[in-house]
Amino acid sequence: MTVVITGASSGVGRAVALAYAEQGARLVLAARSRPPLEAVAQACREAGASFVRVAAADVNDPAAVDAIPDGEVDVWVHTAAVMAYGRFEDVPADVFNKVVETDLIGAANVARTALAVFRRQGRGVLIYGGSLLGTVVTPYTSSYVTSKWGLRALVRSLRLETRDAPDIHVCLVSPGSVDTPIYRTAANFAGRYGQPPPPVDSPEKVARAIVRCARKPRAVVTVGLANRIIQFGFVAMPPVYDALVGPLMRVGGLSREEVTPHEGNVFAPAPPPSDPEAASRRRRWARGATAAAVGAGVAGAALAVRYAASR
Ligand SMILES: NC(=O)c1ccc[n+]([C@@H]2O[C@H](COP(=O)([O-])OP(=O)(O)OC[C@H]3O[C@@H](n4cnc5c(N)ncnc54)[C@H](OP(=O)(O)O)[C@@H]3O)[C@@H](O)[C@H]2O)c1
Repeated sequence: MTVVITGASSGVGRAVALAYAEQGARLVLAARSRPPLEAVAQACREAGASFVRVAAADVNDPAAVDAIPDGEVDVWVHTAAVMAYGRFEDVPADVFNKVVETDLIGAANVARTALAVFRRQGRGVLIYGGSLLGTVVTPYTSSYVTSKWGLRALVRSLRLETRDAPDIHVCLVSPGSVDTPIYRTAANFAGRYGQPPPPVDSPEKVARAIVRCARKPRAVVTVGLANRIIQFGFVAMPPVYDALVGPLMRVGGLSREEVTPHEGNVFAPAPPPSDPEAASRRRRWARGATAAAVGAGVAGAALAVRYAASR
């Protein structure tokens, strides 16, 4: 089996590569920066991959994306993405635009190449890394949220247009919070580093869901204990959701660690800034976040009762 992974050098993409390596798959690993890809490739060889090739490619460059596959592709997993924190008004226009370009137009570039290969073969599975933020909205992440909502629409369109090909599948695997470097590599104009709000899953858990989805394709898979509850609140009780999401984001989604405005890895690959106090901060934050979640639950219930009574 040949698996292409765009965004393979970090986080979920890296975990997907290792999961398929353990199954002895042939792998093509792509991202912009070559050195971290080479490190993942080496780990995949050691884990049992039958063949690994590395392709340094920016998903914003259609020709580079076209050059990634070099033969048959059974599964293409697309997890490449960038992110920017900050109020919409504080995020420079070029940063906003580049996040949308990478996360949405990049995904379309991948679809164009992958579907052309699949049409020739008459089969193939294309899996996109979506997000809970493709179904709900949080403040200070407008470019990312806009992209992920667009990505969900793109996947749905592609599914409609491949109905004539029963062995071609386009799927969306949407996690909630995952412990990956994206929170620190993100561009940041919020004054404080981002962090994954609880409950947090491992990239390996998301990778297992992706591998399962490739074996038995499903339109949408969500990963994350709280996703359904958050989606319910967003759709069924908008005033309650809107009152709570800002404070919760400030407590759970942004760390206390201050950061000067920067463009992160939006325009060029950049390793995550070192985080020497991560472990102790995570413990402090987990305690605070639990307290905040309990408080939010109580406040949410009270607001929900008021909302129901007012209707
Ligand atoms: N972490 C979370 O909490 C979370 C939650 C929900 C959904 N997701 C989604 O899950 C997927 C994976 O996220 P992650 O957290 O694993 O992110 P990550 O650790 O930051 O990895 C992102 C990967 O994308 C690559 N990439 C970025 N820009 C690229 C470009 N223009 N062209 C090609 N490759 C590019 C990066 O390598 P280079 O920089 O070298 O290019 C890296 O390999 C994304 O779609 C993300 O939106 C993540």
